[in-house]
Amino acid sequence: MIVITGASDGLGLQLARLYQEAGKKVVNISRRPCKYADVNIELSLREGPDIKKAADAVTALDDEIEAIVYCAGVLSVQPLGEIDESEIKRLMSTNVKSQILLTSYLLERIEHDVADIVCVSSTVGTKAYLDQAVYGASKWAVRGFAKNLQEEFRNKANRVISFCPGGFESKIFEKATGKSNQDFTHWMKAEDVARFMKQILDLPKNMEVSEVIVNRKAIK
Ligand SMILES: NC(=O)c1ccc[n+]([C@@H]2O[C@H](COP(=O)([O-])OP(=O)(O)OC[C@H]3O[C@@H](n4cnc5c(N)ncnc54)[C@H](OP(=O)(O)O)[C@@H]3O)[C@@H](O)[C@H]2O)c1
Repeated sequence: MIVITGASDGLGLQLARLYQEAGKKVVNISRRPCKYADVNIELSLREGPDIKKAADAVTALDDEIEAIVYCAGVLSVQPLGEIDESEIKRLMSTNVKSQILLTSYLLERIEHDVADIVCVSSTVGTKAYLDQAVYGASKWAVRGFAKNLQEEFRNKANRVISFCPGGFESKIFEKATGKSNQDFTHWMKAEDVARFMKQILDLPKNMEVSEVIVNRKAIK
């Protein structure tokens, strides 16, 4: 089975669709359900006790975990000078803590099943954008966590992929800003990014794409 956090929308939803089409059992963890998932663990991944509940629900499933994909994430756009602590907590908890704690709680299963792990960061985790200090810091942290995991699994067969996509079409911006007029011209499609992620996971187990940066290109 494939465990995906944040498969109710965006990239995770498209990945769930691809795995369902491929005949895999899909387990989603998010507040809202995913229509392509066989199992929906409907919880927020923000607070520790709920993250533990989600891990326990995954542990209770008998199927082998082939991969865990950490897609769940939130964006924040706040100019420096207007950043508040609650926003830092929201971003760091949802984007970073959930990946670390889920991995830690599920470690025994991850090792037993030789599950692969995909940590979804962003191209902003390799550079910076104005007004995205908190989001950027969370995505740099995700890359740092992925790097650390690669060290933890150095002598094991588990693959750890730090996945850093550029802008793709989704509602993450609308959710963060309340504006629905985002211009997606030249942005990637979530389904294309999901297909690429699956292609990486489908490679032979002795090939770990340790980090991948996918930039969007303008087409003339
Ligand atoms: N879109 C882009 O341009 C872009 C670029 C680079 C990286 N990324 C990253 O790619 C990932 C997916 O982004 P997306 O654009 O597909 O976003 P999206 O469409 O807004 O989907 C976000 C997903 O995260 C889940 N989520 C958010 N808060 C959660 C919480 N507290 N507990 C559990 N699940 C939660 C949402 O589910 P519920 O609301 O149902 O809980 C939803 O399924 C994110 O990590 C994002 O940072 C996106």
